[in-house]
Amino acid sequence: MKVLGIETSCDETGVALYDTERGLLADALYSQIDIHAEYGGVVPELASRDHVRKTLPLIDQVLSEGGVVRGDIGGVAYTAGPGLVGALMVGATLGRAIAAGLGVPSLGVHHMEGHLLAPMLAEHEAGAVPEYPFVALLVSGGHTQLVRVDGLGLYTLLGESLDDAAGEAFDKTAKMLGLPYPGGPHVAKLAEQGDPDRFEFPRPMVKQGGLDFSFSGLKTHTLTTVRAHEVDGQVSEQDKADIARAFEAAVVDTLVIKCRRALKQENLTRLVMAGGVSANVRLRAALEEKLGKERCEVFYPAPKLCTDNGAMIAYAGALRLAAGECDGPDAEVRPRWPMTELTAPKAAA
Ligand code: KG4
Ligand code: ZN
Repeated sequence: MKVLGIETSCDETGVALYDTERGLLADALYSQIDIHAEYGGVVPELASRDHVRKTLPLIDQVLSEGGVVRGDIGGVAYTAGPGLVGALMVGATLGRAIAAGLGVPSLGVHHMEGHLLAPMLAEHEAGAVPEYPFVALLVSGGHTQLVRVDGLGLYTLLGESLDDAAGEAFDKTAKMLGLPYPGGPHVAKLAEQGDPDRFEFPRPMVKQGGLDFSFSGLKTHTLTTVRAHEVDGQVSEQDKADIARAFEAAVVDTLVIKCRRALKQENLTRLVMAGGVSANVRLRAALEEKLGKERCEVFYPAPKLCTDNGAMIAYAGALRLAAGECDGPDAEVRPRWPMTELTAPKAAA
């Protein structure tokens, strides 16, 4: 079955075509970063308007790149939540309208389930694909969660952030350092020039047991350090780089410690990492090194599938559509939607 996937939950319009037999056929992404950058964060109204402009042209693009005609589409998957309500409604309305026009089923997909399953997109390529059960570390701009995954839709929340998400902490740190939005990649790049031994930032909530996270104290510590190094309202480039390095090291260490703890607690040896922050090179390296020593395997998506994209929605939707799930007449978008409310597809249960 060929499934059209549409992702419009935030500030990227992602569209893809996934074939359950041949894998990913085409994948197109339009990032709205330039539109939101001058405001230092996503402006929901502008995001919705731009999704209206970009989604249909991207659908035409993936159809032509994938060599697929409309009549070959067997189902349409769109992100139904969590995310910005107006942005979600653009993708949902278009997705459902296209499916109705073609006489095929549509399905609203959970954005974080899309992220979680993204590493499995390698199944038609050379890359290794994780087997169930595994622990997933979901680290994006809106979520930081550790989840036990026993199968499609079988998710147990092990821990999550009690305040800021890891990506949000990166974005706020970037703002403090005068770096553009979204801040994660910029902080990571600046950190490369930083001295790893200059500052030691706190590792939040690692001393207490448990698998929850909190990044707001680290954010305050970063702000205090920035202020302490201001001279005439300016912080030197080297000071900024050293702060970026210390901040990144604290986030990476905290995530690694909690991942090891989660694997131990669940007696599992496979970790899947997904979401925008999983593109972070030092996080990947630290997890591989620390968990590798304990004979644990780490899986993560290709870099372009770490951040928001249509491929993960097409893939998650394809699995569920193929199992017989589809939208009912009461389908709606869900800006807030706990992943633990998901269930296994009825046919697969
Ligand atoms: O998953 P995603 O694209 O969107 C959400 O669902 O939130 O994640 C975006 C987040 C942003 O906070 C961004 O700063 C962060 O991922 N991010 C990174 C890196 N690349 C993206 N954080 C740290 N290092 C990176 N290389
Ligand atoms: Zn995301």
